[in-house]
Amino acid sequence: MKKYLVIGNPIEHSLSPKLHNHWFRENNIDAIYEKKFVNKVDLKDIINQVREGKIAGINVTVPFKKEVISYLDKLTLDAESTQSVNTILLANDKIVGHNTDIGGFESAIKDTKYNFVGKKILILGAGGVTPSIIFALYKMKVSSIILSNRTKAKAEHLKNFYNPIMVEENGWKKIRVVDWGEIPEFDMVINTTSVGLKNDQKLNLDFSKIGKGKFFYDVIYNPKETNFLKTGKDLGNKTENGKKMFIYQAAGAFKIWHDILPKINESLLN
Ligand code: ATR
Repeated sequence: MKKYLVIGNPIEHSLSPKLHNHWFRENNIDAIYEKKFVNKVDLKDIINQVREGKIAGINVTVPFKKEVISYLDKLTLDAESTQSVNTILLANDKIVGHNTDIGGFESAIKDTKYNFVGKKILILGAGGVTPSIIFALYKMKVSSIILSNRTKAKAEHLKNFYNPIMVEENGWKKIRVVDWGEIPEFDMVINTTSVGLKNDQKLNLDFSKIGKGKFFYDVIYNPKETNFLKTGKDLGNKTENGKKMFIYQAAGAFKIWHDILPKINESLLN
């Protein structure tokens, strides 16, 4: 029986096993998918197990999406462009890193019917999934992205990584960084931090002066409504959690591993 894993730290919140194991049953695939809590020192060994055929594929979640790259042989263009990997497999004797977060975010956002063209986006956080979201938004022709991260240097690093390769056309303005705590004018705010994964956690940010009619998006899907989304809703804004992004990125990984596009069924995760 083939074995698949999602690795991360923390990992308890991950619903990937539930989703992939359901799709295995639905498609009569003889395999099992488990979650594994790992530390940085474990990465090399666990990826070697893919090389040896002991593990057929790995999903990578926070905080290792960038760190795993040094143990891989090859990256797809999306993974290379974002320096972020969430799906690993052995193909033609090479360990390849893919990024299905970009496509996952794009598909999820398309489902919301929100028109991104020309919109100003504020992104909170500069962790593992943030580069994929920036890349997807740029492709969707937003007009500007403002980054805010508690550790400002990480936001500056992302800005410096992307600005030289993002062409100023279609009204696109270069990525800006603001201090953590500063809330500039925006159309949509996206929480890419890990704050909220544990139910009681709160971002210490004041959105009371932003006005109504904005879009609050949280990449967190478990819990369903973080304090960030609750605040957005209470202030009269549109909100969406990361569930669809999660399902679509998982479907992308499933397609890469099994060459089958699985049935997208949201009720699976209710
Ligand atoms: P990593 O930072 O190792 O890439 P991650 O889980 O992918 O890990 O990212 C965590 C994100 O949540 C980071 O942007 C982190 O901010 P720092 O770069 O300052 O660490 C953010 N984060 C985590 N805890 C936070 C908190 N209590 N307040 C604000 N931001 C927080």
